[in-house]
Amino acid sequence: MQKLKVGVLVSGSGTNLQALIDGVKKGFLPCEIAVVISNKKEAFALKRAEAESIPAFFVNEKEFCNNLEFEKRMVEILKNFQVELVVLAGFLKVLSPYFVSEFTNKIINIHPSLIPSFCGKGYYGIKVHEAVINYGVKITGATVHFVDEGTDTGPIILQKAVPVFDDDTPEVLAERVKRVEHEILPLAVKLFAEKRLIIENRRVKIKGGLSDGEKASNYLGI
Ligand code: GAR
Repeated sequence: MQKLKVGVLVSGSGTNLQALIDGVKKGFLPCEIAVVISNKKEAFALKRAEAESIPAFFVNEKEFCNNLEFEKRMVEILKNFQVELVVLAGFLKVLSPYFVSEFTNKIINIHPSLIPSFCGKGYYGIKVHEAVINYGVKITGATVHFVDEGTDTGPIILQKAVPVFDDDTPEVLAERVKRVEHEILPLAVKLFAEKRLIIENRRVKIKGGLSDGEKASNYLGI
């Protein structure tokens, strides 16, 4: 099978990018990470890409006269690398309808809560976990979803729950949630690459269901 060319957009430490890199190396993902783009110069994710000889670009928003031009540059890079799937792996900027229309149903995002809770405008990164703790919910988790024109509103592919404990800090909770992010994001990419995701209205169905191995929580052996 031809390997799916994946472009990954990042802003931070890149642990989700690392989970994808590891998934490719272990033969779990029938993909090639063709390019990584960061909107933050200091993002450690860029270093992770460089360590694997994956082409990595910092695209500086400040160098463009407006958001459209900034996004056009990212689209240009992704198309130059013939990217077939765009993964937002901790890309902490909302994409405009222009960008989304360039890759309709070909963009997926990992969000650190159980959507539709604690998502939308202003909910990203550690802010999500602060809000979860302040609200007092007992269960949170992670969601992988297709990206549409809204903020965190696209069809949901996979979700996994984690408990919230009384003595959790946002940082401790973030780590617990990231462990499940690193399971469900590569799994969602695998299902996409294998053309097993069927979108019906806003429901995503998995052709043939998940195998036992895919259902096992620690399938990457991490
Ligand atoms: C992850 O927790 C991801 O879910 C979150 O940013 C973090 C990036 O971590 N994304 C969002 O909040 C998007 N709304 P990483 O750089 O270590 O992968």
